[in-house]
Amino acid sequence: MILNALDEVLFWDDIDTLKSTTKQLDEKYYPHDYESFHKKYDMFFKSVIPNKAEFIRRLKHYAEAGKPIWISGRNELCDDIDTDSMIKAISVSSKIGNGEQKAGQASKYQENDPAFWNFYTQNIFHQQENRILELTVGAGGGTNAVMKEMTDRDYYMGVDIDFVCAKNADALAKYYNVNGLGVTASLWKLPFDDCMFTSVCSNQGLEECREIPTMLKEAYRVLQPGGKIVLHCGNIDKMQSYDRFDQYGFSEDEMIYWAKRIRMYSSADGVEELLNHVGFKFVKRMFDEKLGSILVYEK
Ligand SMILES: C[S@@+](CC[C@H](N)C(=O)[O-])C[C@H]1O[C@@H](n2cnc3c(N)ncnc32)[C@H](O)[C@@H]1O
Repeated sequence: MILNALDEVLFWDDIDTLKSTTKQLDEKYYPHDYESFHKKYDMFFKSVIPNKAEFIRRLKHYAEAGKPIWISGRNELCDDIDTDSMIKAISVSSKIGNGEQKAGQASKYQENDPAFWNFYTQNIFHQQENRILELTVGAGGGTNAVMKEMTDRDYYMGVDIDFVCAKNADALAKYYNVNGLGVTASLWKLPFDDCMFTSVCSNQGLEECREIPTMLKEAYRVLQPGGKIVLHCGNIDKMQSYDRFDQYGFSEDEMIYWAKRIRMYSSADGVEELLNHVGFKFVKRMFDEKLGSILVYEK
């Protein structure tokens, strides 16, 4: 079961209702009947949050009461998955074949925009020996771009709150035969010493996260002085996880306003404001109409 961060925000005080409904719908429809899954999920939302006024009431409540803590299925204990399924998921997601498949898909996608991806990786690999931390491994698209460039002198750690995603990094590391490890943890509290890394990067990851200011403070802590943070930030109007704003009739400006207030992703500009606030210094950026922005800042 995977709950999206915005839904967690909306159900901040009532997460058990959201969890049990999601679990029931998962069991009944997922993944064989994706259409019914979404239809029923939207009906559930409309029954509990009937209009925009109630939606806004919930956003306001989270803005004041929300915290960088685990509250739902994507948590450290994987509390919603039984042991057999967990073992199966680990064995599938750690295998070199999984890495090969992920590498093939991502490389094909990245082939279309070599200048964009070169800008991403060249800024990450700015030392002879690079100690790289990737935030939000997810499906491993960004991991692939990084691991392709690694040599024996570099090492990589990739963090995701979802252990199957962390395992994607392991599979890609096996496939590329590099020093890489996937770590299951939350970006709100990284299990690393201060100043451990020469680069921190993320490929379209903050878009699915709550409590981004806390994550950027942690990224700053674990980065060495002079180290770089390189973030690929997508265009907010193209983001699936924010569909719910659309369904309740929010304009793009309203969506950006509220995303900022609830400390979620509000645009590349919003991330830049936060980076400055945390103490990072601007180095450069690249913008692409279709792919969004790559921000490069320094500690
Ligand atoms: C859109 S995906 C990232 C895409 C990925 N970088 C790629 O290139 O394919 C966002 C990821 O952020 C992770 N995430 C969300 N909240 C998190 C948190 N608090 N700590 C760590 N990871 C988190 C999710 O589990 C998800 O895998």
